[in-house]
Amino acid sequence: MRLKDKVVIVTGAAGGIGLAIVDVFVKEGAKVLAADLKQEAVDQAIAQFGDRASGIAVDVTSSDSVKAMVNAAVDRFGTLDVIINNAGISNPKPLLDDDLLSNFQLITKVNQFGVLHGIIHGSKKLIELNKPGVIINTSSIYATSAAELSFSYNVSKAAVSMMTKSAALELAPYNIRVVAVAPGRVNTPMLQPLKDMGLWDHVRKEQMRAKYTESTEIANVMAFLASDESNCINATTVATEDGYLSFKYPLVSSKN
Ligand SMILES: NC(=O)c1ccc[n+]([C@@H]2O[C@H](COP(=O)([O-])OP(=O)(O)OC[C@H]3O[C@@H](n4cnc5c(N)ncnc54)[C@H](O)[C@@H]3O)[C@@H](O)[C@H]2O)c1
Repeated sequence: MRLKDKVVIVTGAAGGIGLAIVDVFVKEGAKVLAADLKQEAVDQAIAQFGDRASGIAVDVTSSDSVKAMVNAAVDRFGTLDVIINNAGISNPKPLLDDDLLSNFQLITKVNQFGVLHGIIHGSKKLIELNKPGVIINTSSIYATSAAELSFSYNVSKAAVSMMTKSAALELAPYNIRVVAVAPGRVNTPMLQPLKDMGLWDHVRKEQMRAKYTESTEIANVMAFLASDESNCINATTVATEDGYLSFKYPLVSSKN
């Protein structure tokens, strides 16, 4: 087991990628504080993991709420090793939409401040405990390649990748690594609008291997990044997009 008795916090853990992280990390021997907006939803989602996972309500837009979450990890499990800032929202809106400013504020609060709060309170706790540690942030392919109708989301994810680099630089003296992953199209509730719009199959065929990434595939990469095996990976965003940024759609050959 690569993460035996490591204490890990995961935000956005009630579903999608976050829940897969809890699953993979528990299987790798970790004890996980699973955090999401609603206590009941997260408790229900993690019931299958018994006492290896514990649920907590958090709103990552609030610094105080994230600080309380970090303290709870130490109260419940005795220490802290890994913080995964994964909670995020997409809420697509084009630049010229009348609601763009409020959309930008909301997405910035969740995706950008949410990660910032986790970096600040997580790293301060690791330093207080005098422990090395790993902070993992969930970025996106849209940190580097703009998606249409997603102005605010694109900007927020670019910020996540730059916060990852900048924080790694400042936390290096404390032996805290900070890394991010950049998924492409992952089969989670976040992509439900594609199904609603009848675009699910069309988007699938846009992928190099004509398949969506599964949440567990992202969680497996995170488990590696959280482990000592990846000790030389720091201050970077790891591509977990199955080649999506390496070619131009449409593909001539892939129609399966
Ligand atoms: N699904 C994809 O294709 C994809 C691609 C690239 C990046 N991502 C990123 O992966 C992360 C997880 O997304 P997902 O696809 O699992 O989405 P999801 O919608 O299934 O899960 C997101 C979780 O975050 C929680 N959340 C939202 N706002 C919160 C807040 N203020 N405080 C605490 N929790 C909050 C939600 O309740 C939800 O459980 C996000 O950061 C997302 O931007 C997803």
